[in-house]
Amino acid sequence: MKPPSVAIYPGSFDPITNGHLDLIQRGSRLFDRLIVSVLRNDSKEPLFSVEERTEMLREVVRVYPNVEIDSFHGLLVDHAVARSATVLLRGIRAISDYEFELQMALMNRRLSPGIETIFMMANEAYSFISSRLVKEVFSLGGDIAGLVPPSVEARLSQRLPHIQKKEK
Ligand code: PNS
Repeated sequence: MKPPSVAIYPGSFDPITNGHLDLIQRGSRLFDRLIVSVLRNDSKEPLFSVEERTEMLREVVRVYPNVEIDSFHGLLVDHAVARSATVLLRGIRAISDYEFELQMALMNRRLSPGIETIFMMANEAYSFISSRLVKEVFSLGGDIAGLVPPSVEARLSQRLPHIQKKEK
């Protein structure tokens, strides 16, 4: 019997956007199990702790029974092996994503040839969204409705309360 297909969707998710969520939804249809894993040892200074990010993810993936949330430190391929995953899922928004994604995919293949990276094109409606831009726009008083799940918008309001309102 064929073993169940297990994929890891890794990232920073600081915070999750609707672009990530779209990929999770579509990925959940392709694999028996999809594990969304938050990187722990990131050199970037995050807005939300790993615990907050995994909590936000759990809230929004509850509707997908074959999706689970995890976190990892160290090499992604080691995490994939530990979780019996054979696929790394990544989204590509624009050609600018391609170069870095190609480097990561080739490095991961060199480190662990049995693990395949699969790319999905971002939904065009979300192809301009990034966690970084969402935080910037929100902190400057811009409207981010529809770019992140409502629960994430609420968390952003708690975390970044002193927003500069746009001048009318
Ligand atoms: O959401 P991001 O920040 O684009 O995700 C990047 C991530 C987490 C996929 C990447 O930084 C990663 O896999 N880090 C783990 C360290 C690792 O395995 N490095 C070697 C492979 S390139």
